[in-house]
Amino acid sequence: MPKGKVVKGDSSWFVHDRFGLFIHWGLYAQAARHEWVKHNERITNEEYDRRYFARFDPDLYDPRQWAAVAAAAGMKYFVVTTKHHEGFCLWDSKWTDYTAPNTPAGRDLLAPMVRAFRSEGMKVGFYYSLIDWHHPQYVLDPHLGPYRDHPDRQKMNKGRDQARYVQYLHRQVQELLTGYGKVDIMWLDFSYPKPDGSGKGRDDWQSEKLLKLIRRLQPGILVNDRLDLADVPGGWDFKTPEQFQPREWPTVNGQRVVWEACQTFSGSWGYHRDEASWRSTDELIRTLIDCVSKGGNLLLNVGPTARGEFDGRAMDRLAGIGRWMRYHGRSIYGCTQAPEDIPPRPDCRLTWNPDTRRLYVHIFAWPYKNLHLEGLAGKVLYAQLLHDASEVGMERNQRESSRQGGKRNLLTLSLPQAKPDQSVPVLELFLK
Ligand code: GLC
Repeated sequence: MPKGKVVKGDSSWFVHDRFGLFIHWGLYAQAARHEWVKHNERITNEEYDRRYFARFDPDLYDPRQWAAVAAAAGMKYFVVTTKHHEGFCLWDSKWTDYTAPNTPAGRDLLAPMVRAFRSEGMKVGFYYSLIDWHHPQYVLDPHLGPYRDHPDRQKMNKGRDQARYVQYLHRQVQELLTGYGKVDIMWLDFSYPKPDGSGKGRDDWQSEKLLKLIRRLQPGILVNDRLDLADVPGGWDFKTPEQFQPREWPTVNGQRVVWEACQTFSGSWGYHRDEASWRSTDELIRTLIDCVSKGGNLLLNVGPTARGEFDGRAMDRLAGIGRWMRYHGRSIYGCTQAPEDIPPRPDCRLTWNPDTRRLYVHIFAWPYKNLHLEGLAGKVLYAQLLHDASEVGMERNQRESSRQGGKRNLLTLSLPQAKPDQSVPVLELFLK
């Protein structure tokens, strides 16, 4: 990194927009049992390509429909796996034949996707796998990939040169960042350094050099935190908790950081036909709210099928999220964690828009008539339900407040008896 000035990406739009779509799409969609199928089942290159590369033909692929569905769900950006660990490239890369145009698909699948999402006004993110289980120069290690415990692994490494793979990696990233217009996010995945040097980390990707290249080609671009540069100033722009929700706003050296949780509908990132553990629309809406209430974003993943469609379960949830977002986008976009002097409640999540000075109370469990909020009496000008802008009565709760020595400053809101017909009802409080 350049000495002196630390170069970082521009996260101003990112912390406003809050909600994006992750897309995991590759040959593994045909296996339909996890994007790690090649690793999990130790499938050789030859077998993998015979089965999947030779047959990849997403005849129903219509990226304009994908983009429309994402926009209707309230998503403001998307991140797509240009290449996942299997090594297959969705775009027409000049550095390999292992690309969509060389399958029965016969064309660059990335360019029309970028066009479609951009024309919905969405920002563009590229996921690119640092790991590559196909490239002939990628050194086979004992941890990941179909050959990790193959008896001939060492022998197979003869003639492999990680430096040549790194050249390929850097060239491909350059190609992605010069051929598709403005790219807003670079999402690199992932490093697994080990104390004995048997894993892969910053030296195996030439991470610092790669990061410089990325920032030079796309000034302002946001880069995630998986290059193994945690301790390097400017080595990453945002944290990426995956498949769990942080308990509170993540910090580094005591400072709150920009973060984005990435979550799946069910567990697998790639299309998984038989997975039955799908989250409900309600749970997903709550997850989005939970992220924003802790100052973070949500990148919610879809694994399209090998025909090129979002399956019915995904469509159903995205539509449900969109119905909620139509009424409640105001409590998500431009919002963040509530100020410290407004204590959270266990059955609610609070978000706060510092520009409009509005506080949003997301009610996870509908109370018996009254909702008591600490720290707010005397501070609220007006209260309403967000979905229909209907007034909600409020009063300073003298009795409770004085019982607590006046300390808790309790505001009591009187809610309608019946929970509104909204997955998560939201109160909008206009603060002084
Ligand atoms: C992981 C997995 C992966 C997925 C990603 C998303 O590191 O290897 O399959 O793409 O996380 O965060």
